[in-house]
This record gives sequence, structure tokens and C-alpha cells, in this order.
Amino acid sequence: MASIVSFLQPPFTLAHTIPTGPIVRVAPNWYSISDPTAAKLIYGHGSKYQKSEWYDAWNPMDDLSLTNLFSVRSSTKHAEDRKKVASLYSMTSLVAYEPFVDNCIEIFKQRLDEFATKGQLIDMGHWLQCYAFDVIGKITFGERFGFLDAGNDVGNMIDFLDGSFTACSYFGLYVWLFPMFMKLSKYLGMDQAYVASFSFRHIQEAKATMKNYHVDLPSHMTMKVVQAQAQNPEKISDYDILVTASSNVGAGSDTTAISLSSVLYHLLHTPASMKRLREEIKLSGITGNPTFKETQAMPYLQVVIKEALRVHPATGFPLFRVVPQGGEVLAGQFFPEGTNVGVNSWVSHYDTNIYGPDAATFRPERWLEADEQQSKLMEQNFMAFGIGSRTCIGKNISFLEMNKLIPVLVRDFDFELSQDNKVDGWTARTRCSLTVKESSSSKTIVILICAMDNRQCYNTRTVVFGVKRK
Ligand code: HEM
Repeated sequence: MASIVSFLQPPFTLAHTIPTGPIVRVAPNWYSISDPTAAKLIYGHGSKYQKSEWYDAWNPMDDLSLTNLFSVRSSTKHAEDRKKVASLYSMTSLVAYEPFVDNCIEIFKQRLDEFATKGQLIDMGHWLQCYAFDVIGKITFGERFGFLDAGNDVGNMIDFLDGSFTACSYFGLYVWLFPMFMKLSKYLGMDQAYVASFSFRHIQEAKATMKNYHVDLPSHMTMKVVQAQAQNPEKISDYDILVTASSNVGAGSDTTAISLSSVLYHLLHTPASMKRLREEIKLSGITGNPTFKETQAMPYLQVVIKEALRVHPATGFPLFRVVPQGGEVLAGQFFPEGTNVGVNSWVSHYDTNIYGPDAATFRPERWLEADEQQSKLMEQNFMAFGIGSRTCIGKNISFLEMNKLIPVLVRDFDFELSQDNKVDGWTARTRCSLTVKESSSSKTIVILICAMDNRQCYNTRTVVFGVKRK
């Protein structure tokens, strides 16, 4: 009976709140584990644990042999695939992407100013999605999707991702249903058609440009990968190009938006942190958009982002792996080979043995105060981007987006919670609105930010605040 309930309500996070010990069975043969030593064994470099079949539900098509970098299960295939594209996401590549982010910040600022002037209500969670989608569009294809222009859900992409990620996290447990689900969604017109056609068009354009001009071409990612194919046609296929481009959109938009929402939400709830961050930004003397390099010289900004990702990681499910041959003892319990085990960042990030008795509190200072040993422990168990060889390849890009935007928002706007929404903690999937005030010295605009949705396996963005233009 217990397992039926588990299936109906995947308690990926909540189960660990019941004092049951470090191991929770979330379904027959599926275990969520809370233990730093186990995490190291499961994900650490050189680990023999491969991704579980849960990831099949994140494949781009119903043909399960067609994988993407996130879903591919074989470690060998993963290493080959990752090598093909790793340079596109390197720190060196970031420099080329920086103007794309600046472009989106400028438009975002214009929109926020307009809302403040008009006194219009806005949903900031949505607008942070708009920003994250447009940045990823610009970096990947050299063109924004157009979210920041009108604030519309272009091609229904936000809704599509929201729905399909939630569905995938469930279908991963019933993976035999996944091909049927994919066929049905295609039939109902709920597939990734918009992203696919947008990607396809830009890939064709990049190929045409590559044919006609030969020097100094790449700036956006598609151009880079098309150029790599031209230089090494036997190594990079058309499928590689398409799947790299569309994975960026899938993996890199919602996650970054959720994280940005978390930063704003927690700063609003922690005025001392907001004050300290503002002081740091003021002291830097930067008046325009900061460069990524400049943001790296702002230590408090760095820990604010890190702490926001710790208390509200964008992925809310155990990153399931399969116990290898011979089985293994994890958290004091023997697991036979073939068992699905995983650690959930929402669980490890709230572990008081790792982050201290105030683990549930947003307190960026913890990262600055920790001694070497404590620091190492916290770092090793920080898994907002995963751990080990399957760590997020887009981490640098998302840091670029966040590091550049947050100082601008914090420096140029005053944030304010609406009277109706002065709630402590997160509200699950609440979508509310706020009024816009305007004073002689500042404009107030309204934002709506991320909520923790503990009932969902995939965390969404929602909750509400107000902002003043300084
Ligand atoms: C704050 C933003 C982000 C968060 C929190 C995040 C989180 C994660 C996590 C937890 C994983 C590892 C999952 C696992 O072990 O199964 C992952 C993998 C991945 N992420 Fe991200 N991600 C973010 C941004 C991005 C961006 C911007 C991109 C692309 C531009 C991206 C692309 C990917 C890809 C392709 C993988 C698979 C990597 C591999 O297995 O080699 N992510 N991400």
C-alpha cells in the first residue's frame, strides 16, 4: 500500500522531512538517500554508477536510442558526446557571449521602466523567464526569441517546458509509458515543434553563412558548432547540432529563471543581505552593466547567488543512478546491483550536519565564515548543478546571466513586497499580482518570483513582490 501511495505522490523531497533515517524508498526499487559519503560514492569522479532509466523520459524523441547530453545513460557515450561540445560552454567562450547578455539586460531594463511609469502589474517570475529564454536564444542562435519584447509566451515555450518537465519527472518512474506519451503529445500538438523549427531554421542559416563567408565567423553557439562540423564532418552530425541547440533551450531557460527568482525572493526576505549587496555594488563604482570579470570581484554577490541556489535548487528530484555490479553499502544499507538510488539537492542542501543548524535559513555569510574543513564539506555537497562527470555543462552560462543581471536589478530598483503577499516562505504555484506605486523619487514596479513547489518533482517559479525604480 505504501508503495502505491508513493507512486501517486512522488515524495521526492518531503519524505525526508519525516524522521525516517537517511534512506527513503520513493517507489519499489527506487531510493532517495541523504548521506554525504553515499553522494560521493554515487556521483564522485570515477564512479561506476550510470544514470538510471528515469532519464529515458528526458530523451528528445520516442526513439530511445536518440539521446541528448542530459539523458544519455552510457558513461562512454556521454564522455564522447560531451567532448564534442565542451568548448562551447567553456569560460573562454563566455567572453563571446557577454554582449548577448548585455543586449537582453538593456531590453529588460526598458520594460521594467515602462511598467513602473505606467503603474502596470507584472509577474516578475514570468519576466525572469522571458529574460532567461531570450538570453539562451541569443547565445545559441544569435537571435532572441522575442519574449522580452512583448512579454508573451512565444510559441508557448514556457508552458510547454513547465508541463513537459513535470510530466517527464513522473514518466521517468514509468518509463515504458514514455514513448506513448511522446506520440500522444505530438498528436495533440503539445510537442517541441516551435523550438525544433526555430532551431532548424537557424542551423540552416548558419550553414548558409558558413558556406558563403569563411573568416572570423563564430559568435553564437550554433555558428560555432556548425563550424566545428565543417572542420570535422565525420565527428559532428546534423543530429548533434540540433540536439545541442534545443537542449540549451530546454535545460538552460527554466533553471536559470528559477534561480534568479530565488535570489530576488531571498534578498527581499533578508533586508540585511540586500543592504550589504547594494553597498558592495555601490563600492564597485560600476554604473552600467557589469562585465562578468567585474562581478567576480564582488564576493558578496557570489555568495548571495550560491546561497539562493542552495536553499532553492532548480531541480527537485533525486538524480537517479543505478547501483553497479556487485552492489554497494550506502548509508549503512546494502543495495544490490540494479537498484535505483539518488540524492536530491533539496534534501542534501537542508542537511544540518552539512550546513549547520540554520541550514533552512538563507544566510550568504555562511560561505564566507566557514573554516577550511566546513567549507570543503559544504562545497562537496552543493549539488544545484549536480556532481561529478554529469555536472551541468551550462553552469558558466547561467552564472554569466545571473552575475550580470542581479547587480543591475539591485542597484537600479527598489524591491517591495505587496501587502497581500507578505508571506514567509514559499507559496506553491501561487500566481498573484501587485499594485504599482509611483513616488517623486522612485517608481515602484511589481515583480512575481519563484515559489517552492514541494509537491512537484520539478520546481517552478512563482511568488510575488514589488519593486521601485531608484
Ligand atoms: C541555474 C541554472 C542551471 C541549473 C540549476 C542547472 C542544473 C543542472 C543539473 C542539476 C544538471 C545535472 C543533472 C544530473 O546529474 O542528472 C544539469 C545538467 C545539464 N545542464 Fe544544466 N542547469 C542550469 C543551467 C543550464 C544552462 C544555461 C544550460 C545550457 C546552456 C544547461 C545545460 C545542461 C546540460 C546539457 C546538462 C547535461 C550535462 C551532462 O550530463 O553532461 N544547464 N544541469
